[in-house]
Amino acid sequence: MQYLSIKGNQKLKGSVGISGAKNAALPLLAVTLLSKNRVSIENIPEVEDVKTLLTLLGNLGSNSSCSNNHVTIDTTEVKSACANYEIVKKMRASILTLGPLLARFGHCEVSLPGGCAIGQRPIDLHLNALEQMGATIELKDGYVVAKAPNGLKGAAIIFNKITVTGSENIIMAASLAHGVTKLVNVAKEPEVVQLCEVLQDAGVVIEGVGTSNLIIFGSCGKLLDMKNFKVIPDRIEAGTYLCAGAITNSKITVTNVNPNHMKEITLKLIQMGFGIKETKSTITILPAKKILPIHIETTEYPGFPTDMQAQFMALCTQANGTSVINERLFENRFMHVSELGRMGTNIKLEGHSATIQGDSQLNSADVMATDLRASSALILAGFVAKGTTKIHRIYHLDRGYENLEGKFSKLGAKIERLEE
Ligand code: EPZ
Repeated sequence: MQYLSIKGNQKLKGSVGISGAKNAALPLLAVTLLSKNRVSIENIPEVEDVKTLLTLLGNLGSNSSCSNNHVTIDTTEVKSACANYEIVKKMRASILTLGPLLARFGHCEVSLPGGCAIGQRPIDLHLNALEQMGATIELKDGYVVAKAPNGLKGAAIIFNKITVTGSENIIMAASLAHGVTKLVNVAKEPEVVQLCEVLQDAGVVIEGVGTSNLIIFGSCGKLLDMKNFKVIPDRIEAGTYLCAGAITNSKITVTNVNPNHMKEITLKLIQMGFGIKETKSTITILPAKKILPIHIETTEYPGFPTDMQAQFMALCTQANGTSVINERLFENRFMHVSELGRMGTNIKLEGHSATIQGDSQLNSADVMATDLRASSALILAGFVAKGTTKIHRIYHLDRGYENLEGKFSKLGAKIERLEE
């Protein structure tokens, strides 16, 4: 097993290039199941979750090649419609194959993803919507067994809770359905918007892209003529690096980003006293005279992203005063609090609310990563702790951060990946 060793009391400097968005790449790889031709995709992040999904698509019969963040994939030979547990258990986003497989083949079996560290993560909204499109859904031996022998039908669907991958699954399913699908209360994340845009470029008529209400005119089962495309920048990776600049009170720049996707993140950094300078594709953070405490509520896009909650919590330990963070999307997304506590933070939890005392002198410790974003919070804390921090179980980090220690080293961090 590997671990990260991080020297504390560091300043960072310079600039770092941001990779393509993991949470855009995953649905965009799944949607190639609807393509009648080979597709070339640029700016794919080389992270474990993408490799896992490519393996799953390979197991289904697709052919793909991946090098230098460029993937070409051909799913025309896909015959099997069964996404097995061995792969799905490694990455819950495999559930994104459910909608496309059912729409294309009229039947599929996809392992139930199971929960993870941050919560139970049900998929009832995905399944209810597919049933409204005429599918029969059965849960058997830990698998979702879905059937729609005459194809899916367009339907009017209201999501009673905003779900990112639920929206993506149904947008993909509706693209091949017979008839028109109206979706209400759809997720508006940039990753959902790019999926819609790629489908529009493939000839699917979708109205309302970027709003909470979509109207999708299905192709009646005809496979799509998908065009080549480039994955949008990862706003969460970019936010994580900006938080690294913030917590060490350094001037750093993130490049290859879309500042418009990060308005809530940069606004909170400005409210905490940092300077933010933007160009079309870069963001520079400037040191704060005094790091101010903050109040954060995580909400769906365009609100403050839950995937940045842990990173800001680490930052709040260095603010001059008490901050409050309310996690409103997941029931158990405070796993990083106990690990941060071992480094000397003073964070009180009450239900979904965390109260963070600032001005904490952190000490290095052996800590354990629990989920992807919690792990990045531990790295940020390690940069300001006294001594050398060791972060174990870093396979969580490798799921979503490309070349993490290489990028942080480029910013001057003393961070190494070592064998236990
Ligand atoms: C996506 O997960 C992201 N993953 C998550 O990023 C992100 O934290 C989350 O959206 C929220 O923004 C990918 O895009 C691959 P949801 P998803 O369905 O789609 C409840 C990361 O770190 N819900 O929007 O699984 C659910 O329990 C990951 O990159 C239902 O009740 O999240 C949660 O409370 C972590 N029933 C809320 O909705 C359902 O059928 C939002 O979940 C589906 C969801």
